[in-house]
Amino acid sequence: MQITLDKFTKRFGDVTVVEDMDLTVGKGEMVALLGESGCGKSTTLFAVCGIYRVDGGRILFGDRDVTRLSSQERNVGVVFQSFALYPHMTVAQNIGFPLRVQKKPQAEIDAKVREIAALVRIENLLDRRPGQLSGGQQQRVALARALIRRPAILLLDEPLANLDAKLRLDMRAEIRRLQQETGTTAILVTHDQVEAMSMCDRVAIMDRGKIVQFAPPRAMYDKPANTFVAGFLGSPPISFLDGRAENGRFVAEASGVDLPLPSHLASLESGRPIGIGIRSEFLDPSSTATVSGKISFIEAQGREDLYYLQLPDGKVVRGIQDAAHSAQLGDAVSWGVNTEAMLVFDADGNTL
Ligand SMILES: Nc1ncnc2c1ncn2[C@@H]1O[C@H](COP(=O)(O)OP(=O)(O)OP(=O)(O)O)[C@@H](O)[C@H]1O
Ligand SMILES: [Mg+2]
Repeated sequence: MQITLDKFTKRFGDVTVVEDMDLTVGKGEMVALLGESGCGKSTTLFAVCGIYRVDGGRILFGDRDVTRLSSQERNVGVVFQSFALYPHMTVAQNIGFPLRVQKKPQAEIDAKVREIAALVRIENLLDRRPGQLSGGQQQRVALARALIRRPAILLLDEPLANLDAKLRLDMRAEIRRLQQETGTTAILVTHDQVEAMSMCDRVAIMDRGKIVQFAPPRAMYDKPANTFVAGFLGSPPISFLDGRAENGRFVAEASGVDLPLPSHLASLESGRPIGIGIRSEFLDPSSTATVSGKISFIEAQGREDLYYLQLPDGKVVRGIQDAAHSAQLGDAVSWGVNTEAMLVFDADGNTL
């Protein structure tokens, strides 16, 4: 079922947390709300599920205006960040709880609990209590409880935040599989860019209550709207340098950098202040356009190492290099840059 936010606004007292937000999540689509702590992700999710009253705008499920409906009337499945299982109930009772509230016959509840438990692969744990489960198992119980009413809409607020790295990987794939198999429309709230990009069809990046960009992960990574988005996506983080355009080149004197601009920007007027962004994968040993400095930091990462190249003015360019061909700390080096791939920004930080 399609979800539409139409100029959604939410205030707490006289503080406006989300203002005039427009967002459409297509039927069967999974969309991430990605942003820093406090940007309004949970607030938006709570408004969609009906826990928060909205202060402006409308929320639609399909063609139906649900803005004034209670959360019970909206029939959405929700998994909160702290997944809040009832400790005194068994797993089966936890999962079946939403149906008990609806006063369904016990036989029907039992059947549905078994069915949904199989879907999230915890059929053998139904008689345990939450305290006897691992974090990942508890997470799946919370997911099963959210799914048992077969909601057309699933809302997930940092559902993987409490899991270790390995479990998180498994659960990412699992949640995505479930969402796709059931054709559920889903919103995933996260501040983890990898989670957003790997699980979702589209990502909405939020900054202080506004959506800065809404696009499929790849498109957003390749063509970020501005420095905020470019800085949010990618590991290691993109390196930014400020300078100006000069005869088809990017020049930053203090950094000792002088690089040809990508050919589609070669005619930028000389003297115009601009910035560039260099991602690690833009480094290219075969390129004759180079940035030069000293290796100021090396972080071993296994097969490859992360290097910081410090330019004369202290600015840093980060690059991942094959550990086999490593430079040493303090070495003076030049790195080739694939300048066609460089991102270029205007003085306001918007991508040119
Ligand atoms: N009940 C409330 N009363 C007043 N202010 C609130 C309330 N709930 C949230 N806020 C404020 O609204 C802003 C957005 O909060 P929200 O919980 O939506 O952030 P978030 O993006 O989910 O952050 P996080 O990643 O830390 O969970 C924050 O500045 C927060 O302090
Ligand atoms: Mg939150």
